[in-house]
Amino acid sequence: MADEHPMLKVVIDNITVEVPAGTTILNAARKIGGSVAPPAMCYYSKLQESGGKCRTCLVEVSKGSEKDPRPMPKLVASCRTTVMDGMEVKNITSSKVISARAGVVEMLLANHPLDCPVCDQAGECHLQDLSFAHGQEKTRYEFPRRTFPKVDLGDYIQLHMNRCILCYRCVNTANEVCGSREHGVLDRGDHAQIATFISENLKSEFIGNVIDVCPVGALTDKTFRFKNRVWFTKPVYAHRNCPTCCGEVTLWYRGDDIFRVTARKDEWDEIKDSSTGKKGWICNTCRFEKKKTADWVIEENAHVDRHSVIAQGHYEHQTIPKEALPDVLSGNDPKILMDIHTVSGVNAPGNNLGDINGPAHSTDFHENR
Ligand code: SF4
Ligand code: FES
Repeated sequence: MADEHPMLKVVIDNITVEVPAGTTILNAARKIGGSVAPPAMCYYSKLQESGGKCRTCLVEVSKGSEKDPRPMPKLVASCRTTVMDGMEVKNITSSKVISARAGVVEMLLANHPLDCPVCDQAGECHLQDLSFAHGQEKTRYEFPRRTFPKVDLGDYIQLHMNRCILCYRCVNTANEVCGSREHGVLDRGDHAQIATFISENLKSEFIGNVIDVCPVGALTDKTFRFKNRVWFTKPVYAHRNCPTCCGEVTLWYRGDDIFRVTARKDEWDEIKDSSTGKKGWICNTCRFEKKKTADWVIEENAHVDRHSVIAQGHYEHQTIPKEALPDVLSGNDPKILMDIHTVSGVNAPGNNLGDINGPAHSTDFHENR
């Protein structure tokens, strides 16, 4: 009997990989890993409907298959094109792909504000990474960028439509994870925008996941906004016995404070499956309302693979250097020089920045002193 799931051989950037029939070029390249995997701004493997919107994953198919070796005439979206046996694909080895990707980045940035210095996504923004790798030094765009007012999507989520690249990930997440959807893309062309029904908030207990899937800073966590730069925070895996979701999260610490809670991410910056094998989407209660260490069972320092400056923090396997001051101070505790906790209101007991709704102001730090 013929094998129902034959393995197909495909060569990507001169590296051969075998994958089951029906695999996309993007997922075949992810099996090889590293820079052979094309960037993906709209595809999200944990969502059934995603991909085909942003064109950042374009690749060149230099040989269609063993049976029909003709090259494909145009670059193809690797997240939507399945492999054929004997197919040969070029990603980083194709000058056409590199120049097309630069064009796509230029297009995505035509309307995207360059407000990374004040954007909470900075440091873990895929468009920032993509611009760093493929962006031009100058823009040729002469027209005013389109702008929208900021919108509160309920109590916890802020929409900055100016930053949205219309990848549809949030729309698909609401469709597939939340059970109902109260937002979507309205209008078309350069008027297209993410919007809710008039005065309708996003109520699903799982809607916070749209923050995690948004590749840019268009959807941000209002309990974390403007509190800290992500690269100053330390990611730690933790879990709790949650009746609603898998309860497995990443806590982002600064000092002793939990500044934000997110789902755990894999090396492609997508939601990681939980230890039970279920998808790792987390509920709003875990994400927004459990900001005390006592709420969680701490596991270990989180592993951040790529797509983030946080990976440079090397929080894993760290060794704490020996405290040298007691030696030179004849054994005295160095805190006698200055105890920051008595000097700074930011660190005063009761001032948990993670609890403050919205940006923190200096007045927040005087009340408890
Ligand atoms: S808000 Fe974010 S996730 Fe939603 S379409 Fe825009 S960029 Fe994509
Ligand atoms: S990731 Fe393939 S088109 Fe966006």
